[in-house]
Amino acid sequence: MRLVIHADYEKASRWAASYIADKIKNYKKGPFVLGLPTGSSPIGIYKELVRLCKEGKLSFKNVRTFNMDEYAGLSADHPQSYHYFMMDNLFNHIDIDRRHIHILDGMAKDREKECLLYEEAIAKEGGIELFLGGMGSDGHIAFNEPGSSLTSRTRIKTLTEETINANSRFFDGDPAKVPHTALTVGVGTVMDAREVMIIVNGRNKARALRAVIEEGVNHMWTLSCLQMHPKAIIVCDEDATEELKVGTVRYFKDIEKENII
Ligand code: GLP
Repeated sequence: MRLVIHADYEKASRWAASYIADKIKNYKKGPFVLGLPTGSSPIGIYKELVRLCKEGKLSFKNVRTFNMDEYAGLSADHPQSYHYFMMDNLFNHIDIDRRHIHILDGMAKDREKECLLYEEAIAKEGGIELFLGGMGSDGHIAFNEPGSSLTSRTRIKTLTEETINANSRFFDGDPAKVPHTALTVGVGTVMDAREVMIIVNGRNKARALRAVIEEGVNHMWTLSCLQMHPKAIIVCDEDATEELKVGTVRYFKDIEKENII
């Protein structure tokens, strides 16, 4: 696993966006299949991708996207739905063909079927080339809360109190307004991607980042699955490294020194 530490969130986001843009531009094997997250962490990357697209330096015409998750019971036009978030922060501003956007339907009548069909749709596109993700403060990836199977597939998950409280900031600060279940890709779905990139920023993620990087693979910190992935990168800011050992930070800074902006 690579850990690329940048001085601040802006630099980390710019570096990650340019990495993704290069992958898209240099891909010659057919449509580029990109996995995408929501949350505050990827916003800087999305802003940068939009800028590159508007300046004509990047096109999403050859890109197919699959989002990680969606709240159960929220329709696409609900301002706190992940559908809405994605349109607002990325898709409305880039040249992607709407037919190539995939997001789990939180309003699906048969949610289990929706999850099965999602896995099928990913497989039909030949799998995910690059899965971009964020991390919850409890170390979760997508909505794979602590204790999730590290081989899990797309399914319905109950959210923990920590996640509900953390995400209540998007729901007028009221945990009661946050849906208690979500449809989410599994840890196994993320692990099947040929490459995984995670953006982590801020001190509130430091405890989880330490567990994911310095401790063993553990279902209580589901992002620690990355230790078993052949091509994984965590891009972070200095604040997120607060709980790492000095030696760990020095080691990754040294081996990544040419990649730090
Ligand atoms: C939610 C999402 C995750 C995201 C996490 C962190 O739980 N399902 O995909 O990584 O929030 O969000 P933020 O980036 O806002 O800290």
